[in-house]
Amino acid sequence: MIQIAVLGYGTVGSGVVEVIETNKADINKKAAADLAVKYILDLRDFPGDPYEGKVVHDYNIILNDPDVSIICETMGGTKPAYEFTKQALLQGKSVCTSNKELVASHGPELLKIAKENHCNYLFEASVGGGIPIIRPLNYSLTAEHIDSITGILNGTTNYILTKMDKEGVDFDEVLKEAQDKGYAERNPEADVEGYDACRKIAILSSLMSGKNVNYEDIYTEGITRISSADFKYAKQMNKSVKLLALSRDTEEGFFAMVAPFLISREHPLYSVNDVFNAVYVHGNMLGDSMYYGRGAGKLPTASAVVSDVVDCARHQGKTIMCFWDEEKVEITDIKCARRKFFVRVPADRRDAAMGAFGALAEVNVGIAEEFAFMTQEMSEKEFDEKIEKTGGCLNRIRIMA
Ligand code: HSE
Repeated sequence: MIQIAVLGYGTVGSGVVEVIETNKADINKKAAADLAVKYILDLRDFPGDPYEGKVVHDYNIILNDPDVSIICETMGGTKPAYEFTKQALLQGKSVCTSNKELVASHGPELLKIAKENHCNYLFEASVGGGIPIIRPLNYSLTAEHIDSITGILNGTTNYILTKMDKEGVDFDEVLKEAQDKGYAERNPEADVEGYDACRKIAILSSLMSGKNVNYEDIYTEGITRISSADFKYAKQMNKSVKLLALSRDTEEGFFAMVAPFLISREHPLYSVNDVFNAVYVHGNMLGDSMYYGRGAGKLPTASAVVSDVVDCARHQGKTIMCFWDEEKVEITDIKCARRKFFVRVPADRRDAAMGAFGALAEVNVGIAEEFAFMTQEMSEKEFDEKIEKTGGCLNRIRIMA
């Protein structure tokens, strides 16, 4: 019998208990052991809940119980999750987590502690919810040199952008509707400003490079400036707008960023809609591969946590290799990155824009007050200089090659 403790009985934590109960027969067979939830740690009580008898409020009960060998950390945030995780690992108890914030900020340190204590720190659920992406990067693509990852890593913003695209409505209106339906948080900042996707691409970039990509070094831009007018132009160009998180290992340096991009219908990520997530990976031998599915939600995310529990059960006393060193990756300034841009300026800046940008391709959707165009490929630095010469713009969106 393998005894488990769940830290945090919120959406994902209660999902973990439900997945273990619902799929008990399959899970026990695959783990080659019987798994049982012994404790649930939460500040609250849950009267009437079938698992209320397992709820404890003192973490020491879990830490001091030698029967508990696997802990599911589904609390979120870094306080007290960091201390709790560290204490568990130091005692040789494996930790499986959905906490991208903690993994992005302390991943290599916690992995090292797990290794020193012959246990595991696993985090499949921290990126892409239920989509297997950590395990493919860690185990399946080990013969590859991965040079590029492009992801739609946030369900809330993908839902908002999909609605804006399909229904022609503005950002504020869709956000309000998404909040009313419970899809978006009351405080949506982490999602709409791109911070959530930033943590997730930091984790994927670290696994891609084998070193530590600090999320604070990643250029991050959210979707709050995207309007229904942008989607009108996008349609005209046979494109859509997606919040992309990307990582590129190039001869010019290692680039990582989060920003809205225009992508063409032909791109596999174009069809990733609503709350779905996808990660598009390029390896030098395999070429392109894509991982798609539900990137958020109770049961999909819990399923990924429980898959890590099964892995821990299969590797009791052994640490599964994970290449993520503490050595820092120097991120190249995105000002050096080259791409095309879509730009909207007030109509009276048409001549200034033509003077500054030279060859450009006008995009006309009949908005008389504006002049809109696609630029040639140039560096972000050159673009900033040209837009300054033009006198500024109404909006600009990067174009995915
Ligand atoms: N807020 C996140 C999202 C939840 O919308 O994707 C999953 O990390």
